[in-house]
Amino acid sequence: MRFHHVAIETVDLANTVNWYLTFFPGIRLNWEQDQFSSLTHERLPRITKLVELQVSNIRFHFFERIGVTHSHPPRNVTAFQHFCFQVPTPQDLNSYRLRWFDLRYSGIYNFTHDETATDIVVDQNAVASFYFLDVNGLEFEMTYVPEEMRAC
Ligand SMILES: [Fe+2]
Repeated sequence: MRFHHVAIETVDLANTVNWYLTFFPGIRLNWEQDQFSSLTHERLPRITKLVELQVSNIRFHFFERIGVTHSHPPRNVTAFQHFCFQVPTPQDLNSYRLRWFDLRYSGIYNFTHDETATDIVVDQNAVASFYFLDVNGLEFEMTYVPEEMRAC
């Protein structure tokens, strides 16, 4: 078994897809659909469109539901807290972080949250990470894992 995709509901599909397409070099649009099963309509009323983007072996399913308002769970409830992407070099970590700031202050994208990306932190095993929010306020981590730690 292997992981297949992360599904992200957004209030602004175009804003979200455009941001992901710019933030992740090499990301591609695999397919989109605007017709759904009755089960999907029951689970996700007023869904209008779903887009699959893929970067490396990570797929995102972005979808929008018309007229549905969103709020975020407080930090003390059980929920996915963040997903983490591993990059091959420490320089990649820096590049992604700088790109995050470039896009955040480009004026092109609407961000639901005002929080900035964190500094890069290095833990006792020399694993380096920073944390950031996407345009929807969903938290992600970007990490560099040194070679000697990768088999763990
Ligand atoms: Fe993490």
